[in-house]
Amino acid sequence: MKDRTVWVADSFEGLPVPSLPQDKGYDFSATKIPILSISLEEVQENFRRYNLLDDQVRFLKGWFCDTLPKAPIGQLAVLRLDGDLYESTMDGLNALYSKVSPGGFVIVDDYGDFAPCRNAVNEFRQLHGINEPIEKIDWTGVFWRKLS
Ligand SMILES: C[S@@+](CC[C@H](N)C(=O)[O-])C[C@H]1O[C@@H](n2cnc3c(N)ncnc32)[C@H](O)[C@@H]1O
Repeated sequence: MKDRTVWVADSFEGLPVPSLPQDKGYDFSATKIPILSISLEEVQENFRRYNLLDDQVRFLKGWFCDTLPKAPIGQLAVLRLDGDLYESTMDGLNALYSKVSPGGFVIVDDYGDFAPCRNAVNEFRQLHGINEPIEKIDWTGVFWRKLS
């Protein structure tokens, strides 16, 4: 498939220190959980090892609130969110949900496992009148298909 771009957005230095009351008690930043802090170079090397590192993969390094709103992304077929926090999930949805094409999919890895993530998704869906059913993938992941 040569007509798709995979956008990979991450700080590549771990989760932010929580700044919102909705994320209180969920400090998974690099000083607390260093295993979630993986460098851009290491991620690129993993893509390369699977022969998947080429011009079709574009990396957005930085905090979602800074990178996502100005990213030159047109349409998205799949929006996959895995940022754990309320803030990170909301930043992703606010910047990118409107770019998901009708028929496209939204996947949220942490919906079952992390209340802050779940709260962000539920709030966003309510605010925007999103009624497409949430389908369970496993004990934590969910998805829905955007109809319009
Ligand atoms: C649980 S890890 C998942 C990483 C990757 N999706 C995987 O499955 O291996 C969460 C990732 O989200 C990134 N992250 C969370 N909140 C972020 C934010 N607000 N801005 C940028 N990156 C963020 C962290 O750096 C971390 O790499």
